[in-house]
Amino acid sequence: MLSESPTLAMSARAKELKAQGKAVLDFSAGEPDFRPPAAVTAAVTEYLQTRPVHYAPVPGMPALRDAAAAEFARYHGRAITRGEILVSCGAKHSLANLFMVTLSPGDEVVIPAPYWVSYADMVRLGDGVPVIVPTRREDGWRLQPDALAAALTERTRFIILGNPTNPTGAGYPAGLLRQLGEVMARVAPRCWLLVDDIYRRLVYGGFEHVSAFATLADVTDQIVIADGVSKSYSMTGYRIGFLLAPANVVAAASRLQGHVTSGAATPSQIAALAALTDPSCEAAVRDMHAAFTRRREFVLAGLQALPGLDVVAPDGAFYLFCDVSRHLGPGTQFADDIAFATWLLEQKLVGTVPGTAFGAPGHLRLSYAAADESLRDGLQRLGEALAGLPPPRDA
Ligand SMILES: Cc1ncc(COP(=O)(O)O)c(C=O)c1O
Repeated sequence: MLSESPTLAMSARAKELKAQGKAVLDFSAGEPDFRPPAAVTAAVTEYLQTRPVHYAPVPGMPALRDAAAAEFARYHGRAITRGEILVSCGAKHSLANLFMVTLSPGDEVVIPAPYWVSYADMVRLGDGVPVIVPTRREDGWRLQPDALAAALTERTRFIILGNPTNPTGAGYPAGLLRQLGEVMARVAPRCWLLVDDIYRRLVYGGFEHVSAFATLADVTDQIVIADGVSKSYSMTGYRIGFLLAPANVVAAASRLQGHVTSGAATPSQIAALAALTDPSCEAAVRDMHAAFTRRREFVLAGLQALPGLDVVAPDGAFYLFCDVSRHLGPGTQFADDIAFATWLLEQKLVGTVPGTAFGAPGHLRLSYAAADESLRDGLQRLGEALAGLPPPRDA
């Protein structure tokens, strides 16, 4: 049975409490809090005022596919054709399409934990078997070559790497990516690498995001990329994502999409086209990035100052993944991270997401995609909440 997305459930509950008039300070959001770039809103408004809104072509409007191909060609340093791009209703949809058309029953998909909540359920939707491979805080939550080698079998169809990853923000530097590529080529030469690049423009602190295509030159025909406008352009509600894959995979995913959703919403495609092609959008993306950089430093320092929390400085995305295990278990108030997160939300009105949702019990994910003052007040409230708890257990 499919599970409800726990991140969406936590956000929904926080919103529900807010709607009841409660002053929730919410660190559970998985989306930027900004308005999209002005050119995006202008383009979609003009379109709606001047045209009827018809179905879009199933794989995406040609102009948008070409714009995405041009952007990816520039970024990945290789020629990319329209046929290698599928436009879907968000990167979530791109990924679900991919697994449904490529997996056969029993095919295995390696998913490093902590993982984004939807990967495993999407793999199951495609009749595949998620193979969860834990990563360690000491390794910066990055999948290591020996752990990958041990997880690969003859049935492995995909390895998923979030670069950077939700919920930990861990990114893959070129050296480690190359080592993982070598393991894949040696141990499971028929396996494919799926890189989820949805947060690639949101990296900080000197971390340099690298293109998997450019880094793994020997296996380029086994790389699939998921990307989109949701996070970097603050366009989550528009629901536009991209799959960059060999043309036969795109064609198969497009056939499936044609029967399930048809093409993504026409106004949203117009909006995404503006995001990718209007030069003024770059400045807006840079401004959002600057705000995230500032907030990341502020919240990271604030959390590191609180008793009994351990947090690794993330390379990217807009989350901090906090080890709270010293506040859990015998001698503390909470049995586990779910009890802790529930108490924080219901009693202290601080929204977080428990690590169990990401395959990492004992942790909380805090998103800093919120206004500066909410982050400041939220940290203060979190500090007060922790001060009222029994002292944290020894590390
Ligand atoms: C790691 C990761 N991949 C993909 C997505 C999906 O993004 P979209 O809004 O484009 O469906 C998300 C959104 O939360 C995410 O965190």
